[in-house]
Amino acid sequence: MTAEEFVAELDARNQSVLKRLEPEATLTPEVSGSLNVMNLLKVALKNEIEATEIASRWLVTTDDVTVKMALARQAGDEAKHYRMIAGRLSELGFDAESFNPIASGYGPLFGYLDGLRTTVERVAAGQFTREAIAVVKNRQFIEFCERAGDRATATLYRDVIEPDERFHQELGRSLLRRLATTPETQDLARRAAARTLDLAEELQASALKTAGIHHAPGC
Ligand SMILES: [Fe+2]
Ligand SMILES: [Fe+2]
Repeated sequence: MTAEEFVAELDARNQSVLKRLEPEATLTPEVSGSLNVMNLLKVALKNEIEATEIASRWLVTTDDVTVKMALARQAGDEAKHYRMIAGRLSELGFDAESFNPIASGYGPLFGYLDGLRTTVERVAAGQFTREAIAVVKNRQFIEFCERAGDRATATLYRDVIEPDERFHQELGRSLLRRLATTPETQDLARRAAARTLDLAEELQASALKTAGIHHAPGC
C-alpha cells in the first residue's frame, strides 16, 4: 500500500471510531454532576499543558527537521491556547493564575504518548489521531457553550482553537504521508492510532462516570 493509500485508510478507520466518541445518543442518560463551562475549561487547561509538553519533548528528540518544526509550531499553539483559556477563566471569575492543572499528575494518554519511541508512531498517535479527536470534542464543546449561553467561549473555540487543532491534524496527515511508506511503519502507525482511540474512549467513559463530564474540549 502506498503511504497515500495508507493515510486515507487510517483516516477512514479513525473517523468510524470517532463516531462512537460523539456521546449524545449512548452516554447522555448517565450524566450527573455539575457540568458547566468553567469546569470544562479547567479540564481544557490540563489538556493544553499535556499537548504542549508532549510536542516539546518530541521536538528535542527527533533529528528530522520537518517534524521538529511541526512540533515546535504545535507546542507554541497549545501554549497559546492555555493562555487564552486561562484568560477566559479569569473573565468568568476563576483565579487561573494560582491553579495548577497538573498538580495531581499527568493523565494516562500523556503517559502512553510519552512512551512512544518512533517518529511514525508519535505522528500517528499525537497529531493525526489525537488532533482528530480534538476536532470532534471541540465541535461538541462549542455547541455546549452555545446552549449554555456562553458566546465568548464558543467564539474563542470556533475562531482560534478549533482551526489550530485542525491544522495540527493536517500536519499529522502530511508527516504520515512522508513516514508511513513501508508495511512495518504502517503497522506501527496503525497500532499507535488504535491505542490512542482506545485510551480516548476509556478516558471519556471514566470522566463521565466520575465527574459527569462528556463535553470536555480536546487538544
Ligand atoms: Fe492541538
Ligand atoms: Fe490546544
